[in-house]
Amino acid sequence: MKQIKLNLERNVSSSYDICIGHNILDRIGLIIAKNNGAHRHIVIADSTVSALHGDSFLDILRKMNLTADLIEFPAGEASKNMDTILSVARQLIELGADRSSALIALGGGVTGDIVGFVASIYMRSIPYIQVPTTLVAQVDSSIGGKTGIDLPEGKNLLGTFYQPKGVFIDLQFLDTLPDYEFNNGLAEIVKYGIIDDVTLFDLLENQTEDIKKRDMTLMKRIVQQSCTIKRGIVEIDEKDVGIRRILNFGHTIGHAVEAESGYTISHGDAVSVGMIAAARICQKLDYLPSADRKRIETLIRALDLLDHIPESISTPGILSRIATDKKKKGHIVHFVLLKRIGVPFINGSVADRIIHETIEELRK
Ligand code: GLY
Repeated sequence: MKQIKLNLERNVSSSYDICIGHNILDRIGLIIAKNNGAHRHIVIADSTVSALHGDSFLDILRKMNLTADLIEFPAGEASKNMDTILSVARQLIELGADRSSALIALGGGVTGDIVGFVASIYMRSIPYIQVPTTLVAQVDSSIGGKTGIDLPEGKNLLGTFYQPKGVFIDLQFLDTLPDYEFNNGLAEIVKYGIIDDVTLFDLLENQTEDIKKRDMTLMKRIVQQSCTIKRGIVEIDEKDVGIRRILNFGHTIGHAVEAESGYTISHGDAVSVGMIAAARICQKLDYLPSADRKRIETLIRALDLLDHIPESISTPGILSRIATDKKKKGHIVHFVLLKRIGVPFINGSVADRIIHETIEELRK
């Protein structure tokens, strides 16, 4: 098992380990029992993860003589709302959870966001642990303490920065992951290669077929490297006021495409086509060499991720969503651009004309 320490200088007691391995659930139970000191553990999972892994995970904790219960909520992004938070909080009260209890988020990004948010406000905050079961949660959302829920007015409008006590990543969860979920994670991994690590990008280019087969040894290496990159960025900018924004590479246009499709396009596909759009914009602005832009497009295609914007998604619709985003964020969209693969920078604005032209180019 590999351990990566995330150090937060502002508060050493908020630092924590990210543990990565294959088939390590028993060891995870042991570490939780040894290090955590909570009197009671409450595992929180959505209905899908609960059916697949809920009982076996509870058994592991109970085998360690820990008092453990499970709270379940309906699977899906629609659960990321205040009703779920209140329902989970009330169930915690019924179970007798108090400030000596700890929560365990067993699941993907939605579960991590919900559990982190509840943990940050329940009885003025209690500890929580992340056990991410999707690839995107393993390489991205479980690390860095962002929590949040959606409002009808928009996504993640209520939330906190609240770091977990530990992140435990077991690659065996990838065995039961549907392809679209695996691809959501792959898109974020490609993003890490593009914004931070040309060696990771080379590896993705050279091992595309084995990645698609989910070769475990290779995936372990790739997940470890991705977590190391995310750890490094969060250590410098925990509160997302500077360098952490480079994690949004491909997301400005990607989020607009995803929302304009009514969320029928997956996050991974939307970010993939968003990264191609961003790379094309960088080349048009004479920042990125065309060879690098071509490598990005070729890799995205080789991994079977989305490389075009379907005709059904209108250009004015995408542009208006980018403009709304801009209004919400103080009239500045922080576009993440590239000088070359591995060298990103943040730009205050890109002319609408260039975004429009790029979107039109990406029609098939
Ligand atoms: N997923 C983006 C971030 O953690 O900042």
